[in-house]
Amino acid sequence: MIELRACQGHDEMEACVRLQIEVWGYDPSDVIPRKAFLVAQVIGGQAIGAFDTELSSNGPEAMVGFALSLPGVKTGNFEPRAYLHSHMLAVREAYRNRGLGARLKQEQRREALARGIRHMEWTFDPLQIKNAHLNIHRLGAIACRYLVDFYGVSSSRLQGGLPTDRLVAEWRLDSPRVQAILEGGPASNYVIEEQILVPASIYQWKASEADWDRALDVQLENRRKFQQAFSQGLAVLGFVRDAEGNGIFELGPLTHLDLDELQTKSPNESPRL
Ligand SMILES: CC(C)(COP(=O)(O)OP(=O)(O)OC[C@H]1O[C@@H](n2cnc3c(N)ncnc32)[C@H](O)[C@@H]1OP(=O)(O)O)[C@@H](O)C(=O)NCCC(=O)NCCS
Repeated sequence: MIELRACQGHDEMEACVRLQIEVWGYDPSDVIPRKAFLVAQVIGGQAIGAFDTELSSNGPEAMVGFALSLPGVKTGNFEPRAYLHSHMLAVREAYRNRGLGARLKQEQRREALARGIRHMEWTFDPLQIKNAHLNIHRLGAIACRYLVDFYGVSSSRLQGGLPTDRLVAEWRLDSPRVQAILEGGPASNYVIEEQILVPASIYQWKASEADWDRALDVQLENRRKFQQAFSQGLAVLGFVRDAEGNGIFELGPLTHLDLDELQTKSPNESPRL
């Protein structure tokens, strides 16, 4: 059985750091340290751990996943509003594809709503088909911002040396769209005006010296398409996978419902995030 709960004490925060290094393969300059997990929790963020209760102890050694979020504030022509920026989600490899990543996100949502926080965001690599499926299709996030090389050079083995381009996932926690999707129903109807494809082979191309340029070409072409679509007012509203395992982002105009989801977007926020 996997128990989800807030991390407690220095040892469990340290276990998050160890799992982070195991999952991303970061070198020390990229690692989020234990103190940052601690501070995030103290100032209104979240450090939530997933613990396998069948392992010898239910303490730090039993941690098989975690989610870290930082508190943020949106300002603009409305009262300042608190939201959460989810910076990391990790599940140990042997525990993946059993719904644990989705459960961690749902625990973040439950805990946020219990405190009256209704909006959460995070960035994700649009070349990671699995993450796009989880974020858009399973959780109901939408995206209408594209960040070019957001983190700069990264030692993450998942990045494969490509620029760290990111989409910003926006999760309006109590919107009808999100509720319907989390209950297993369909998303509200949306019109598809643009599709952006990520080939299933992208993972092999990134990892291969011979094909790395092909991965970069896909990234640059998709970057251009996302930027153009977003400048025309379209947003990522759906994500599907075809029979070959390719990922397809579905973009369309925001309905009134979806527009409401974006009310927390701040006109004065930094152009990078
Ligand atoms: C992203 C991550 C946290 C997901 O955890 P997880 O426990 O495997 O997630 P879940 O089991 O809840 O959901 C995974 C979904 O992706 C699907 N999936 C698995 N492999 C896939 C692939 N290659 N392409 C597309 N979808 C895939 C699964 O079928 C599942 O969808 P379903 O529930 O509709 O069947 C985990 O893979 C991970 O730690 N990755 C490395 C770190 C990372 O990328 N973190 C997120 C960015 S910060």
